[in-house]
Amino acid sequence: MLSTLASASRPVAAAPEAPLVRVEDLRVHFFTRDGVVRAVDGMDYVVNKAETLGIVGESGSGKTVSSLAMLQLVPPPARTVGGRILFRGENLLERTPKAMASVRGKHIAMIFQNPATSLNPIYSIGAQLCEIVRWHEKVSRRQAEERATALLNLVGISDPAARLRQFPHELSGGMKQRVGIARALLCNPALVLADEPTTALDVTIQAQILDLLAELQARLHMSMVLVTHDMGVVARMADRITVMYAGRVCETASARTIFTAPRHPYTRALLESMPRVDHSYSGRARQPLPTIAGRPPNLLHPPAGCRFHDRCPEATAECRRVLPVETEVAPGHTVSCIRHGSQGVAA
Ligand SMILES: Nc1ncnc2c1ncn2[C@@H]1O[C@H](COP(=O)(O)OP(=O)(O)O)[C@@H](O)[C@H]1O
Ligand SMILES: [Mg+2]
Repeated sequence: MLSTLASASRPVAAAPEAPLVRVEDLRVHFFTRDGVVRAVDGMDYVVNKAETLGIVGESGSGKTVSSLAMLQLVPPPARTVGGRILFRGENLLERTPKAMASVRGKHIAMIFQNPATSLNPIYSIGAQLCEIVRWHEKVSRRQAEERATALLNLVGISDPAARLRQFPHELSGGMKQRVGIARALLCNPALVLADEPTTALDVTIQAQILDLLAELQARLHMSMVLVTHDMGVVARMADRITVMYAGRVCETASARTIFTAPRHPYTRALLESMPRVDHSYSGRARQPLPTIAGRPPNLLHPPAGCRFHDRCPEATAECRRVLPVETEVAPGHTVSCIRHGSQGVAA
C-alpha cells in the first residue's frame, strides 16, 4: 500500500540548480512566563522551483510557527531568534517590516487552515480581493475587479461577478477556502504556503480542494509548501517531504523514498500509524488504529540528545547524549538519526 501511495504521487520534478527558498538553522522561541519554549530549534529545508514540498509532523511539532516565520508573522510571545530564510538568495529575516509587507501576498502568499476566520466578515469578497491587488500593484479598481473575477473563475467558483458582492458568511466552507486560494494567487506568487488547507473541511470537500491545489500548482509553475499532520495528504500532493518532530527535521527525501525507503524511526512510526486500505479497521476484526506510543517532549525543557529518543524503539544510550545532525545518506535524502547514518554532536 505504501508503495502504491508513493507511485500515485506525481513524478519528482527535476531538481533545479538554485532553490527558490533555503531555510537554514531556523529558530523560533516563545518567551513565556514559565520560560523559553523552543518551538522551532534548528530547522533546515529547501523549496525548489515549481515543486510541492510537504512538511509533515504531529500537532505541535512547529510546522505552523516555522511557516509564519517565513513571512515575519510569528505571533508574540514568539520571536524568530536565529537562522536565515533565503528567498531568491536574500535573507527575509533581515527585511524591515515595511519591506516585508511588499513580499507578503505578492511573492509569497499563504493559505490558512480555517477559511472561516481568515476572511474578514465585514467586507465583501470583492473588497477583500481588490484591496490586495491594489496594495501591491498600481491598477484601477476596475482592473483589480477583473483580476479578482478571473481568479474566482480559476478556482472553480461559478458566477464570480455575483460572488464578489457577497460576504464570507454567505459561502460554504469549501467555497470560502476556494476564495482563500484565489486570494493567495491574486498576484501570481512564486511560493504559496498552505497550512493544513483542508483540515477544517468535510472529507469530500477536502479531496476537491487538494485536487484544485495540485492542478493550480502545476499549471502556474509555482512552488508550494504544504503543511499537514496527515501522511495521506503528502502522499497525494508532495514531490518531496520533510518530516518534523519537536521543532526539528527528522528526514527529508522525495515522496517516493519517504514511502518506500524511510530511514528515521519517527518517519516509520508515522507511516505505521496511517490508515491502510489493505487492513480493515471496520467490520468484525476491528483493530484500533495504531498510534505512536508516548507524547512529544515538553519544549520548555527539550530532552538532551535526539528529541525522539524516549518514544523511539531503536534508541540506545548514545541517543540520549548525542544530538543528531541532518546528514545526506543518499542523493537528495537527509536523515537526522545516528542509528541510520547521521552524524551527531555531543549535547
Ligand atoms: N502561545 C504559545 N505559548 C507557548 N508556546 C507555544 C504557543 N503556541 C505554540 N507554542 C509552542 O509551539 C509549538 C509548535 O506549535 P505549532 O507551530 O502551532 O505546531 P504545529 O503547527 O506543528 O501543530 C507547540 O508545540 C508549542 O510548544
Ligand atoms: Mg499548525
